[in-house]
Amino acid sequence: MTKRQSLHGEWSSRWAFILAATGSAVGLGNIWKFPYITGENGGGAFVLVYLVCIAAVGIPIMIAEILLGRLGRRSPINTMRYLARQARANPRWQYLGWIGVLAGFLILSYYSVIAGWALAYVFRLGAGTFSGADAETVQAAFDGLLASPEILLAWHTIFMLMTMLVVARGVRSGLEAAVRFLMPLLFVLLAIMVGYAMSTGAFMEGVRFLFQPDFSKLSGTAVLVAMGHAFFTLSLGMGAIMIYGSYLPEKASITQASFYIAGADTLVALMAGLAIFPIVFANGMEPGAGPGLIFVTLPIAFGNMPAGALFGTLFFLLLVFAAWSSAISLIEPAVTHLVEDHGHSRIKACLWAGLATWLLGIGTVLSFNWGSEWTLFGKTFFDLLDFLTANIMLPLGGLFIALFAGWVLARRDSERELGDGWGYRAWRFTVRYVSPLAVFIVFLRSIEVI
Ligand code: TRP
Repeated sequence: MTKRQSLHGEWSSRWAFILAATGSAVGLGNIWKFPYITGENGGGAFVLVYLVCIAAVGIPIMIAEILLGRLGRRSPINTMRYLARQARANPRWQYLGWIGVLAGFLILSYYSVIAGWALAYVFRLGAGTFSGADAETVQAAFDGLLASPEILLAWHTIFMLMTMLVVARGVRSGLEAAVRFLMPLLFVLLAIMVGYAMSTGAFMEGVRFLFQPDFSKLSGTAVLVAMGHAFFTLSLGMGAIMIYGSYLPEKASITQASFYIAGADTLVALMAGLAIFPIVFANGMEPGAGPGLIFVTLPIAFGNMPAGALFGTLFFLLLVFAAWSSAISLIEPAVTHLVEDHGHSRIKACLWAGLATWLLGIGTVLSFNWGSEWTLFGKTFFDLLDFLTANIMLPLGGLFIALFAGWVLARRDSERELGDGWGYRAWRFTVRYVSPLAVFIVFLRSIEVI
């Protein structure tokens, strides 16, 4: 296969890629979603399945996705089209790229609404709204936010504009710099929160909830949610990491980068869990409170710790930045597709993709208030979108990425990119057999066939 160059630029270094991909991976998934789905699915056993999925499915598929991206060096659609042609495989492999573009668009439509909550909380904490607050006050404040579609829509609009602004300028400018400083800062703040959680008196209860597996609480759906989340949190299965890989300089080690990214991502998620569950138990709250979990627990902590308004404002601000650097990667595949295949300028592509996403987001805004009764299979519009994308589309996308990298791509191509040691053989065995089988079994189990 001949070497290709990306039309959209290249990262300035290996580290720039690792930072950007970590920026994509670390986001609302780690700090908002991981704690709340862990709470809903009973804790320890769920966390264990999630960790196994990261190691056995997530990391190998991340390597595969970056690899395909760097070989193809185009939008996920054109990368798959090109790689399939090179391998003389069925041209339908390009649909993998299409599903990815669609999934990114669907995810961003609700991701932006939740990021809007975080934006709203930056200002609430800044105004000292929660000082001395107890669980009821904090809950009432959150319910009040969800009840007003205008306010949710306003924050959703602002977040979408922020995202489009960066994407319009191209992934490199601005983004690299932001991630370099803000990610480490977020990490420090999380550490402070874990420190606070230790002082609540319920720290060990939180630790047990997270790490003591009770398999009787693990349903077939919980296993699916855990696996889906492994894809979601690592930004896998829809071409986001593929497109970032397509900007990766030739010499950088894909395997090493994948371990760094997955390691940092997992660490942030576990720290968020350690910060949140002790507060939940110390205040007699419900771990299964749902999507509002961090918005009804952390403000209690900030309201009752020294300099809480300052730390609280900073925390939600960093959360917004983490969400921002993730949102960019969700829309990047659609934008590169519009640029490559429809001849739009980057700015115009951004406007169209952003407008469509913003419109769909209104569905999620309404699902928390006026439209909370509109359900399908007992799920609101938001729940449905989340389930469909994270638990079905991403694992399916990941499954086909693994199959392509393991079975269709010529061995000499993957070997040349990844090196030929035992690590390479272990990776190849995993993407050929282990990851596809794991995804397949989880799918079957969740529809209660076995
Ligand atoms: N991984 C991000 C998070 O945890 C969300 C995200 C960004 C994502 N890009 C993605 C999820 C691509 C799936 C696919 O918040």
